[in-house]
Amino acid sequence: MKIAVIGLGKLGSPMAACFASKGHQVVGVDMNADFVAKINAGQAPVFEPGLQELLQQSGSNLTATCDTKSAVRQSDFTFLIVPTPSQDDGFFSLDYVMSAIRPVAEVIAEKDEFHVVVLTSTVMPGATGNQLLPEIERISGKKCGEDFGLCYSPEFISLGSVIRDYLCPDFTLIGESDERSGELLESIYTSVVENDAAVQRMSFANAELTKLALNTFVTTKISYANMLAEICERLEDGNVDVVTNALGLDTRIGRKYLKGSVGYGGPCFPRDNKAITAMCQQLGVTAPLPLATDEINRHQVPRLHQAVMSRLPRGGTAGILGLAYKPDTNFVEKAQGLMLAESLLAAGVNVIAYDPAATETAQRAFGDSLNYTSTPEDCVAQSDVAVLTLPCPEFKAIQPQDAVGERTIIDCWRVLDRDAFSKVCNYIAWGTSDVARSHGGAESHSQHITAKAA
Ligand SMILES: NC(=O)c1ccc[n+]([C@@H]2O[C@H](COP(=O)([O-])OP(=O)(O)OC[C@H]3O[C@@H](n4cnc5c(N)ncnc54)[C@H](O)[C@@H]3O)[C@@H](O)[C@H]2O)c1
Repeated sequence: MKIAVIGLGKLGSPMAACFASKGHQVVGVDMNADFVAKINAGQAPVFEPGLQELLQQSGSNLTATCDTKSAVRQSDFTFLIVPTPSQDDGFFSLDYVMSAIRPVAEVIAEKDEFHVVVLTSTVMPGATGNQLLPEIERISGKKCGEDFGLCYSPEFISLGSVIRDYLCPDFTLIGESDERSGELLESIYTSVVENDAAVQRMSFANAELTKLALNTFVTTKISYANMLAEICERLEDGNVDVVTNALGLDTRIGRKYLKGSVGYGGPCFPRDNKAITAMCQQLGVTAPLPLATDEINRHQVPRLHQAVMSRLPRGGTAGILGLAYKPDTNFVEKAQGLMLAESLLAAGVNVIAYDPAATETAQRAFGDSLNYTSTPEDCVAQSDVAVLTLPCPEFKAIQPQDAVGERTIIDCWRVLDRDAFSKVCNYIAWGTSDVARSHGGAESHSQHITAKAA
């Protein structure tokens, strides 16, 4: 197939490379000439594990240009993967989508062949059918479903594993204007995905809601597990891993995203939660769930901040291991480690940090106010209180000898060996009774609960 991919950012360039590596002829389009030049030179324009290798595999199947019209003229499909930033009211803006579709619709006006437009960006329910479709028809003078096709097909990827998530999805979601367009898009996915993922085809609005619902269900699970973690911290011998490992065995619940650790961040979860809240308000639907999820999430950084401050000696140094929102990405927006660093710096604390991938992006956010170590071991060794905010495999390199002394380690993901580290420092497995015990408070809290129960 001949495919144009408009938007070669964090999602678009891995997708373009996935299509090309599976033999499709792909022309990537971006208004950013640097991204275009990089793709044409076989270099990854964004940080994403595996992208560089995939670009090399793609060879001449993938080229890039700033000229949307020429890319669309050469193609049977156009994927739109441009930003849809959140507005102050929580809704996603369609401005980039509407401006990107104009040259596409102008080419559709000239074309005799059936061309399928696929919107991949995250949009509000109703956007594809009520805004994008009439705009393409207006500009092209053609009829959707007869002269051209339109699909809404978002990806359920997470930065750091975009390529794996894309090639091996749990399912593929297609909102379609008509059966023919859905069939054509399904045939592309069948040629690209490496597993036998189910394909769910439906109307635009149902697909748009499914995308939002999936992400916000996951955020609900994360906040629920974080609530359990806080409860466990106040129970004698409480341990959120013990509880969630058992809970997750129930197939109605499942183990994924039920860890009990720091809050969620990144490019999708926080804003999708706000968007579904805004949509519910507009529709008059009573929806306290996403609000509660968000409230619990916003509580996590202050909770960690308090845990650090109460253990930090006067003039002491706090070390943060993990500034990105998850491992294997350099994306720091709304990341818990980054926000913790911000709040500690604002409180006048001396902060040092280590992140395997995100030092450069964090430097852009912080300038010189944050110092970085070159290894996780150094970050621990130079801190009075060290907080592991991510479950990075690199943190396994930290050995008990790096932590010896009057030092506190707050291990939010329980990455380190609890027994070994407890012997050499004040080791706190977040989400366990370690948190209260290190203040001598576990006993009194649980006595309080026992007394109330009696
Ligand atoms: N990043 C993620 O984890 C993720 C996950 C799921 C969904 N999404 C959704 O995918 C969409 C894109 O996200 P992203 O993270 O890839 O964004 P991004 O900002 O990394 O990339 C978008 C790219 O589009 C380009 N662009 C904008 N307008 C253009 C135009 N008119 N013509 C050509 N290029 C244009 C920009 O230059 C940029 O390179 C958003 O709606 C986002 O919500 C992102």
